[in-house]
Amino acid sequence: MSAPKKLFIKTYGCQMNVYDSERMAEALGGKGYVETKSADDADMILLNTCHIREKAAEKVYSELGRFKGLKAEKPDLKIGVAGCVAQAEGEEIMRRQPLVDLVVGPQSYHRLPEMETKAREGEKVLDTDFPEEDKFEKLKKRPKAKRGPTAFLTVQEGCDKFCAFCVVPYTRGAEVSRPADRILREAQDLVERGVREITLLGQNVNAYHGAGPNGDLTLAQLIWELDKIDGLERIRFTTSHPNDMQDDLIEAHGTCAKLMPYLHLPVQAGSDKILKRMNRSHTAESYIRLIERIRAARPDILISGDFIVGFPEETEEDFQATMDLVEEVKYGTAYSFKYSTRPGTPAAERAQVDPAAADDRLQRLQALLTRQQREVQDSMVGREVGVLFEKAGRLPGQMVGKSDYLHAVHVADCSRGIGELARVRIVSSGANSLAGELIC
Ligand code: SAH
Ligand code: SF4
Ligand code: F3S
Repeated sequence: MSAPKKLFIKTYGCQMNVYDSERMAEALGGKGYVETKSADDADMILLNTCHIREKAAEKVYSELGRFKGLKAEKPDLKIGVAGCVAQAEGEEIMRRQPLVDLVVGPQSYHRLPEMETKAREGEKVLDTDFPEEDKFEKLKKRPKAKRGPTAFLTVQEGCDKFCAFCVVPYTRGAEVSRPADRILREAQDLVERGVREITLLGQNVNAYHGAGPNGDLTLAQLIWELDKIDGLERIRFTTSHPNDMQDDLIEAHGTCAKLMPYLHLPVQAGSDKILKRMNRSHTAESYIRLIERIRAARPDILISGDFIVGFPEETEEDFQATMDLVEEVKYGTAYSFKYSTRPGTPAAERAQVDPAAADDRLQRLQALLTRQQREVQDSMVGREVGVLFEKAGRLPGQMVGKSDYLHAVHVADCSRGIGELARVRIVSSGANSLAGELIC
C-alpha cells in the first residue's frame, strides 16, 4: 500500500469554520489523506478562510504567497482555498494567485473529493455554487475515531438579516436549518466517541427551525431533545441574534440543567440611530430589557457580546451610548472591532468615520470591556462551579478545563482525567484564568 497523502488545513474565522475544517478532513480522509500539523510535509494545503473584515481576507493572500517555495520544491503539492473568501472572491483568487489549484465555497464541501481528483489531473477547479443538495448528509462521518471532550455541531447556517456591515448573508447564503433527527444522530455519535459537551453552531443559531417528527422544532425544543442523550453533560449554542431570543429558549436557561449559563448575544452598538442604520431592527432599550428577562430566568448567566465602533456616521455621542449600554449590561466577555468596509455591503457606500477617532473609541471601549471581564472573572473566587477537564496543565499533576461560564480553570494535584466533569471551588483569579480545588 502506498503511504497516505498528507493534508494540512489552516483555519481562520469563526467556529463554523473549525467545524467545516473537520468535515473537509473527514471527506478527504475517504481519499486516503491523513492530517499533518505542518505545511512543509503536506501533499495538499487547504486554507479555510474568513471574509468578515478586510484584514482577515488579506491574510489569505499573504499566506498563499508564502507557499511559493514549497510548491517549487514539490510540484505535486495541491493548494486549495475554502471558506468565505473563496465564496466571495473565488475567481479573483485564481487570477491573483496562480499557485491555487482549487477554490471551494462553504456550500460545496461535499464535492471536495471529486474536486481533488480533478486537481490531481492538473485541472484548476472552482466551485462556489449554492447547490440544492444537503451537504451535511453527503459529508457522512468516517470511522468512529475517539475525540476530545468538546465538539462543535452545526445546526443552522446562513443568515437573512443583512446587517448593513456584514458579508455573511453573501458568503454563507440564506438561512437553512438542518433537520433535527440528523443533528441528534450526529450528537449521539459524538458522545459515543467521547464528547461530553456540544456547542450548537449557527450564524443565527436561535433562529433554528429544523424539521422534526411533528413539525419544525425551535432551538429550545432541539436542546430538550439533546438533553435526553445519556453521556452528554453540557450544551452550549452560538451565535444568537437578539430578535430571535424566544421565550422557550429564555426559559430553558432557567430549567435545563445541561444548558450552560453562558450566552453570546451581540448588540453591535448602543445608539438607536446607529442600530437603525446597521439594520439591526432592535433598540438599545429592547436589548437591555431582553437581558433583564434572561437574567430573571438564570441570574448567574454570563453575557458575552460583539461591538463595532466607527460605523459610518457614528458621532462621539453615539459612541457614548454604546459605552452607557456596556455599563448597564455588564459583560463577562466581549469582542469589539473597528468597522471594516466590506465591498458590496450597503454601509460601504456611506460616509466613513475618521480612522483616528474610530481607533480612539475602540481603545476606550476595550478598556471598559476588559475591566468588566476582569470583575466578572474575579467575582468567581469563592464560588463552586462545574469544570470539564480538557487537557493536562503545564505543571505536573495539573489539569485544565472550562467552567460552566467558559472560564479556563486550572486545578493542581488533580485526580480527574480528560473528559471528566467535577465540582471545583475557585480559589484565585489570574490574568486569563482561574485556579480552583476539587470538592470531594
Ligand atoms: N452572526 C453573528 C456574527 C457574525 S460576524 C451575529 O449576528 O452576531 C462576528 C462579528 O464580527 C459581528 O458580530 C460583528 O461584531 C463583527 N463584524 C461583522 N462585520 C464587520 C465589519 N464589516 N466590520 C467590523 N466588524 C464586523
Ligand atoms: Fe451578519 Fe447580522 Fe447576519 Fe450576524 S445577523 S451574520 S452580523 S448579517
Ligand atoms: Fe468569517 Fe465566514 Fe465565519 S466570514 S466569521 S468564516 S461565517
